[in-house]
Order: sequence, then C-alpha cells, then structure tokens
Amino acid sequence: MSKIEVTLTEPSSVLFDIEKRAHAYPWSEIVFFQPLSAGTLWWSISVDKRIVGFANTQLVADELTLHNIAIDPRYQGRGFGKFLLNDILNYADKHNALMFLEVRESNASAIHVYQQAGFSIVGRRPNYYASDSGREDALVMRREIS
Ligand SMILES: CC(C)(COP(=O)(O)OP(=O)(O)OC[C@H]1O[C@@H](n2cnc3c(N)ncnc32)[C@H](O)[C@@H]1OP(=O)(O)O)[C@@H](O)C(=O)NCCC(=O)NCCS
Repeated sequence: MSKIEVTLTEPSSVLFDIEKRAHAYPWSEIVFFQPLSAGTLWWSISVDKRIVGFANTQLVADELTLHNIAIDPRYQGRGFGKFLLNDILNYADKHNALMFLEVRESNASAIHVYQQAGFSIVGRRPNYYASDSGREDALVMRREIS
C-alpha cells in the first residue's frame, strides 16, 4: 500500500516544476521563490516519498488564505488534492481561522474540490486573470470554521 504524507516544506525546483506543468498560467520564478511573508506556509504531499503536489497558505489573524494548490498532472484525479486540502482545513480549524481563496471561474475541477471541502462562492473579481480569450473573472470562495 502506498504511503501518503503531507509535510511542511519550502519552495524548491521540484515544486516549481509541478507549478509549471499544473497551471496554464503558472506563477513566475520570482513570485514562486520570493521570501516568505509572515504567516506563510508551503505544504507538500508525497506518495512513497515522491512529491506529487504542493500548496501555499498564509495565516493572517483569523483568516487563512489558500494562495496556491497544485497536483502534478500525472497524479491528478486520484484524491491527492482532496487529501492535501484536508490537512490544510484541519490547520485552519486548529487556528479558528476562516478560509478564503480565489479561483478562475472556468476551473471546474478546483471549484468542485473546494465546494466538497465546504467552501462557498461569496464574491467575484471581474477580469482578474489573464486567459486565452483575454481576461477571466475570479470567484472568491470562503469556508467557515467547522
Ligand atoms: C485542483 C486540483 C488541486 C485537484 O487535485 P486532484 O488531486 O486532481 O483532485 P482529487 O483527485 O483529490 O479530486 C477531488 C474531487 O474532485 C473531483 N475532480 C477531480 N478532477 C476533476 C475534474 N477534472 N472535473 C470534475 N471533478 C473533478 C474528483 O472526482 C473528486 O470528487 P469526488 O470525491 O466526488 O470523486 C488539481 O486538479 C490541480 O492541481 N489542478 C491544476 C492547478 C489548479 O487549478 N489549482 C487550483 C488553483 S485555484
């Protein structure tokens, strides 16, 4: 049976490689490797010691923002995104933190994962992201403390 582990980590070339392959519009190298601001955590998920995904969160007062989450495309759709998010939800609950995130409105798989995790749509930022057809709205999602 495979051993799945979620651990705290630092940005690395392995994570950046997943970033570039998982996102159509990845973070730039400068943004990815910028010095950590207060409350920022990087998370990684590994299967039998192989890193298959990561997340970036920031806790400020009682709000935890999920800034990034990505699973290596070769490992998507096998429950790893949900597994990683679950550890982050536990962290938010332990800190009595509301959670927020922004997601492209076309990103049906991510929205599905977030809704399953108890997030609901609370806002919209028009033309927030670059997209192939010009600009695209971001949906703002929030999860209450459970
Ligand atoms: C979004 C992402 C993190 C989800 O991780 P994942 O490991 O692929 O998702 P999981 O396998 O854990 O799936 C969780 C749920 O979403 C569903 N799901 C996964 N991919 C889906 C898809 N393409 N369409 C619809 N539902 C999907 C699964 O069926 C599962 O639901 P279920 O429990 O009802 O069966 C991953 O797909 C990813 O890295 N995407 C690219 C980067 C990205 O968009 N990040 C989010 C930016 S805000």
